[in-house]
Amino acid sequence: MPLSPDVLAAEFPLQPGLCYLNHAGVAPWPRRAALAVEAFARENTTLAASCYPRWLAVELRLREQLARLINAASPMQVGLLKNTSEGLSFVAAGLSWKPGQNVVIAREEFPSNRLVWEALGRHGVAVRQVPVLDSADPEADLIAACDVDTRLLSISACQYINGMAISLERLGEYCRRRDIFFVVDAIQGIGALPFDVQASQCDVAVADGHKWLLGPEGLALFYVSDRALERLAVSEYGWHMVARVGDYERSEWGLSPDVRRFECGSPNLLGTHALEASVGLLLEHGESHVFNQLRCNIEFLSSSVEQIPGAESLSPRSPDRRSGILTVAFAGTDPGRLDRRLRQAGVFAAVRGGGIRLSPHFYTPQAVLAEAAGILARCVAAERRGESL
Ligand SMILES: Cc1ncc(COP(=O)(O)O)c(C=O)c1O
Repeated sequence: MPLSPDVLAAEFPLQPGLCYLNHAGVAPWPRRAALAVEAFARENTTLAASCYPRWLAVELRLREQLARLINAASPMQVGLLKNTSEGLSFVAAGLSWKPGQNVVIAREEFPSNRLVWEALGRHGVAVRQVPVLDSADPEADLIAACDVDTRLLSISACQYINGMAISLERLGEYCRRRDIFFVVDAIQGIGALPFDVQASQCDVAVADGHKWLLGPEGLALFYVSDRALERLAVSEYGWHMVARVGDYERSEWGLSPDVRRFECGSPNLLGTHALEASVGLLLEHGESHVFNQLRCNIEFLSSSVEQIPGAESLSPRSPDRRSGILTVAFAGTDPGRLDRRLRQAGVFAAVRGGGIRLSPHFYTPQAVLAEAAGILARCVAAERRGESL
């Protein structure tokens, strides 16, 4: 049974008058995440680390939840890192590179999924950037950019600018056939759309928890397939990434047999408590309800916003390309000014790709979406009249 609207309203006590439509940026925490952090702080002040075994049980539960969400075969394929950028950097540092090899990415990737590959220029590796946002068949274009020297293909599950969802299965099948290492920046996908690491055959998927997973910044899931684990060298070292954690006096050591070999030192247990609560809410509500409600919210928002004169959707219309992001441009307005006007009026969105990026989540009430669309229409009109901010 999904959680009722009343329970969801209590979980997200956003300030009245705030239309929060920036889950693709930084999401609010549910109430239960705040309570988990409060309880963790209380334990730290009164009982200190005498609770450590319980804290580790929370960490294991988080890995189990995330494994379920992405259909990983084991929770021990789900590492916990600092952020998406760190996970991508571990891949770049963990593979061996030869001059003349190339990496294929989308031209419009978020900088975290571009800079890391461009930095491989020092090894003589080239980055091929493929325009995808205006493509009728982005997977075919990405595949066409690959050749015998392509070592890796890295793509966002959904493009951060306009939300375009990519067929990871199609790319994964190709990469596996051609033995190309396949990396997914999943931060705009997991928690918004079904995500299946086995069906997509990705080698690595990485996503910080602060967007569609409703967690805090600074704690990311790092899925590594068994095949990729054998191929990726570690690049950070410490007490925590060894096979015998806690056996401090041994002089010989070996790597942890699982993804924990990428977790070099003390874990972020504060973030773990928050994210475990947030992801628990998604799972309790039911993934299919989360995805369906978000889809309905996007459809509702797009049908309201696109009625505004001069509105042009920059997001794809086909259902298999939709995600939690709707980006709309308004003729005769400057998106930066329009966004400032919106914020003054209580609508919190973002400027991306020359338009306004709106990203509700599944729990966002349709009344809030209707209010936001009304405010947007008034702000667009005020902009066109040249009213001062
Ligand atoms: C596609 C994409 N990748 C990565 C990030 C953020 O990376 P990190 O988790 O390293 O902060 C964002 C944030 O907006 C993003 O949209």
